[in-house]
Amino acid sequence: MNPVDRLLAWYDRHARELPWRTGGASDPYRVWLAEVMLQQTTVPVVIPYYRRFLERWPTLAALAAADRDDVLALWAGLGYYARATRLHECARVVVRDHAGRFPGTVAELKGLPGIGTYTAGAIAAIAFDRPEAAVDGNVERVMARYLAVDEPAHRLRRIVAEAVSDMVPRHRPGDFAQALMDLGSMVCTPRAPRCGACPLDGECRARQRGLVDSLPRRSPRKRRPLRQAMAFWLESADGRVMLTRRRGQSLLGDMLEVPSTPWRDDAWTLGEALAHAPRAGSWSLLAGSVDHAFTHVAVTFRVACHQGFVPAAGDHWHERDAFPALALPAMTWKIIDHVDAARRETGENERR
Ligand code: ADE
Repeated sequence: MNPVDRLLAWYDRHARELPWRTGGASDPYRVWLAEVMLQQTTVPVVIPYYRRFLERWPTLAALAAADRDDVLALWAGLGYYARATRLHECARVVVRDHAGRFPGTVAELKGLPGIGTYTAGAIAAIAFDRPEAAVDGNVERVMARYLAVDEPAHRLRRIVAEAVSDMVPRHRPGDFAQALMDLGSMVCTPRAPRCGACPLDGECRARQRGLVDSLPRRSPRKRRPLRQAMAFWLESADGRVMLTRRRGQSLLGDMLEVPSTPWRDDAWTLGEALAHAPRAGSWSLLAGSVDHAFTHVAVTFRVACHQGFVPAAGDHWHERDAFPALALPAMTWKIIDHVDAARRETGENERR
């Protein structure tokens, strides 16, 4: 048996049972939804979100007709929120320009919002049975070892993409793509790979040359940059709080957040930060700070408070009690918790 068939036979026995692989597994809508969610998020985190989305919007047409804020609300917690905006945009474009049916070629798929090379390849292979390569980080690792490619990351990606394109079988290209993903996640793991359980063990060049632990070559880790910001907690006399939306940004695009200064390298003094405050007035600085880490950047917030404000029309005021029903990203919750904790402390001091 050739290596591709052995991989497929292994997949037949060991494939992970995942919700997007059962019942309507080649429905392009389901494949696309799963792949977009999986772009920057792990399988166990994605599963409940995938189920909730599908239950709420069982078809592409239903998602396209949804309110964008509802899409963002159901996405809350999954991170990289620009994905949610693009997901919704993509649904609308497919309805508007493609009569509600996903196109099946990589070139056309890549023309849609939020679909890059990897996602286009995955959809074309899994949903349309086209012999296309879908190379993500897991597949890169598997192939770097299988072919013993000792090259830096940017060159590795190209070499692997070409090698996988040459390997993709005409029969079962979608299973081939997912078999490589499952092999990477269950057998050819970053640390302590289980080579004894690998269907490609016999041909694996890294294994033959004793290079499994040193491939893929690790690029020197860049330190995660640490940024500084000042958040502005603006509260009305009747206890409502101002939350605003950050438009068009990939990390937190369109999510509600406590308004803040831009993020920068140096800490902000209150005086400097006030140039960015949503309102003038007498702001006071809370003790302590809030740290939040994203994948590629970490931010430390100080929090300035201003209470008793009288809201003007058009401001974005939200009842404090209604926060749990809003779609708020984790970073925003940390700032809210920080303010709540400071309040409790002040209250306790006053009672003493
Ligand atoms: N990661 C990205 N796409 C995947 C898929 N279809 N199955 C498992 N893991 C994945």
